[in-house]
Amino acid sequence: MIKNKFNRFGIIAICLLSFGYSCAQKNISKNISLKEVYKKDFLIGTALNGRQIEEKDSNAVVLIQQQFNAATPENIMKSEVIHPGWDTYNFDMADKLVALGKKYKIKINAHALIWHSQLPGYVRRLKDADSVKQFFTNHIKTVAGRYDGKVFSWDVVNEALEEDGTMRKSIFLEKLGPDFVTEAFRLAQQAAPNTELYYNDYNIEQPKKRAGAIALIKKIQAAGVRIDGVGIQGHWRASNIPLKDIEQSIVEFSALGIKVMFTELDLGVLPNPWDGDAADVNMKAEYSAKMNPYANGLPDSVEAKLTKGYEDLFKLFLKYKGKVGRVTFWGVNDSQSWLNGWPIPGRTNYPLLFDRNFKPKPAFDAVIKLKK
Ligand code: G3I
Repeated sequence: MIKNKFNRFGIIAICLLSFGYSCAQKNISKNISLKEVYKKDFLIGTALNGRQIEEKDSNAVVLIQQQFNAATPENIMKSEVIHPGWDTYNFDMADKLVALGKKYKIKINAHALIWHSQLPGYVRRLKDADSVKQFFTNHIKTVAGRYDGKVFSWDVVNEALEEDGTMRKSIFLEKLGPDFVTEAFRLAQQAAPNTELYYNDYNIEQPKKRAGAIALIKKIQAAGVRIDGVGIQGHWRASNIPLKDIEQSIVEFSALGIKVMFTELDLGVLPNPWDGDAADVNMKAEYSAKMNPYANGLPDSVEAKLTKGYEDLFKLFLKYKGKVGRVTFWGVNDSQSWLNGWPIPGRTNYPLLFDRNFKPKPAFDAVIKLKK
């Protein structure tokens, strides 16, 4: 009897608690949702990791459906995951992502078809150009073909440029020559006629690298091959956002007749060992407490910089809303960000609009306020 009463009480308490929790969560969306507030301006996206795609991270799932109408897989469509053996493909997670997109009406930007990084081991070991070409062709045909009409867009080529605007020294440049970018778009166009096709890179708002990207895009267009947009990744530091270069880039890229997107936005607040805004995943540095100054919380002054940074950026995006097609954050909340592990592992960074408890930060409020 006592046990029964306890059970009943326990069940009622759990119901009340979860009802209260879900009300609190729903309130965020009912009143304030990024995708709703910006629906007439541009898409608002997020990067999704494996746990989020499988809906194992329930707090993230709440935010994903409330706040975003676009999503990019953070890792699961990269070639080492989706094409692990010469004749082996692993579509499991990508299929789940497509289903998630359908369920929550989220447009999927597939990432990334041709990228020198996160290549499967067997590709990195290839020595002859013919084999690289065969991988390149099979990969694009099979993967882009399978998801045509199921994903909204592809980052067809990712990060093919060096900082000075010349072609990056990659296996693709070495074995296939500088036309490999145009060829990737040509194959993607054939395999995925119903999918938008983009070039994606970091620091292409910077003048030299931007000039390289413009030359690359013009070359694709001159070959009569379709390219629908360019993605400026947007891994910047909150204290040093190159607003003028970003504005100039929106103007110059859109003059090519393509969409401009901000595809991996995050604003780091931690010291950078090299004092730059690179996003090269191979760069690593040693951990020290000095390089991790906000492990126990973010001071108000730094939070204010982050808020101002997002406010300035979204003001600019709104100014060019006819040209900017999408703004995607590189993660749902701060705990998921790659910037906690790069370029120094084990740090505590605060680059996104939602904190480690999935709560909207002052930067979120500032971005919303611009539309009030
Ligand atoms: O897959 C292994 C897993 O098997 C293992 O258990 C785990 C242990 O650490 O590592 C897993 O791989 C990690 C992978 O993320 C999946 O979590 C890699 O070590 C790690 O290096 C990888 O980092 C990703 C990085 O790209 C790698 O290139 C980041 O999550 C991802 O945010 C980042 O995203 C890139 C964009 O694709 C392109 N632009 C720059 C951006 C930031 O670097």
